[in-house]
Amino acid sequence: MERTFKTFLVTGGAGFIGSNFIRYMLSAYPECKVINFDALTYAGNLENLKEVEADPNYRFVKGDICDRVLVDSLLSGGHEVFKSLHPQSSALSPVIDCIVHFAAESHVDRSITGPEAFLKTNVMGTFNLLESAKKHWLSESSSLSPQSSLFLHVSTDEVYGSLGDEGHFTEDTPFAPNSPYSASKAGSDHLARAYHHTYGLPVVTTNCSNNYGPYQFPEKLVPLVILNALEGKPLPVYGDGLNVRDWLYVDDHCSAIDMAIRQGRLGETYNVGGWNEWKNIDIVRLICQILDETIPDSPNRPHESLITFVKDRPGHDQRYAIDASKIKEELGWTPAHTFETGIRETIKWYLENSDWCETVRSGEYRDYYKHQYGS
Ligand code: NAD
Ligand code: DAU
Repeated sequence: MERTFKTFLVTGGAGFIGSNFIRYMLSAYPECKVINFDALTYAGNLENLKEVEADPNYRFVKGDICDRVLVDSLLSGGHEVFKSLHPQSSALSPVIDCIVHFAAESHVDRSITGPEAFLKTNVMGTFNLLESAKKHWLSESSSLSPQSSLFLHVSTDEVYGSLGDEGHFTEDTPFAPNSPYSASKAGSDHLARAYHHTYGLPVVTTNCSNNYGPYQFPEKLVPLVILNALEGKPLPVYGDGLNVRDWLYVDDHCSAIDMAIRQGRLGETYNVGGWNEWKNIDIVRLICQILDETIPDSPNRPHESLITFVKDRPGHDQRYAIDASKIKEELGWTPAHTFETGIRETIKWYLENSDWCETVRSGEYRDYYKHQYGS
């Protein structure tokens, strides 16, 4: 039977995937209420949610998932946000019954230069949310139970480590994280599992491959290459460019999470991927070709001439590939977008949203770029 929930707490909802997920949910389920809980780090941007900010079913709360007092006030229903979400009702209805946990430090390169923030947010922040959910959902006085609440933990394929030329990650592949980022995500996955196993907290975890699409912060490969190419700047390819990633359009990740929320078996993990492996250098070349076609009078044509091989990422994982059979067989999920259409839509979005790109590339991002690439 399908689970339904009334009030979602989406952590990290101002980031890339979280903001796409909030738009997806508000449009797919007009009756659901969504509280976006985000610390607004360099990666969090409320402009990503301009379209929904006036939606009566949407509220934003600024805060850190490590702040236990704030998390408790949200999960207890005591926070003032509930009064504005449910102006007519008593204190009973507004309680959060589903947490969709995206909030994380998410960029591998930043984890190599500054791992501490990753441990704090990804491990301790997740622990904090799990503890608070346990307290408010599983106590004797709670109006909720493991049957009427859910903690959906959003994770990554990087927890499985690196593959050689053959094979795919399945849900049974042992964890072998290689970067501080993936180690911190693996830690959070283990905690989520333990809270289900030990306390009976209703947890489902998803492990997804590389996402691309609108609103991705331009420190990640796809938007970085698009925006640099438009400006005639070098397109930095790490090492020999032969590392392989599996790519999934962000909306397909959102639909997979939605299905896992509604039908995923408690305590289970589901791999999510696009069956869509690309060498980094081939993705960069493809983006260049599409830009050549789309902007025939660009002074930067052929954009491929901007490709620059740079020093490799330390500990760079060679290949990720997801076996997404379980989520297909159990929940009926498959991606709706092909890479060919998804990447074209993504490039079009970045071309049409130059104001957004300008804003996110100002300030802190510029300092980071200088430190990473030296100019
Ligand atoms: P992102 O970096 O774009 O967004 C992260 C969001 O979390 C930001 O809005 C940030 O402000 C917020 N945040 C960070 N620390 C916080 C804290 N302490 N308290 C509250 N909010 C905080 O990340 P993303 O790419 O959207 O990834 C979202 C989730 O999906 C992450 O858990 C990531 O591990 C996972 N994931 C990402 C991908 C991908 O390709 N991007 C793939 C698989 C899984
Ligand atoms: O696999 C899922 C993961 O995908 C998520 O868990 C992470 O949150 C997300 O950031 C992403 O991690 P990657 O390290 O794979 O993504 P990134 O876009 O940083 O890099 C993709 C590949 O491109 C990787 O092999 C490194 C390479 N790369 C990246 C950058 C930024 C380059 O060659 N040049 C670059 O400038």
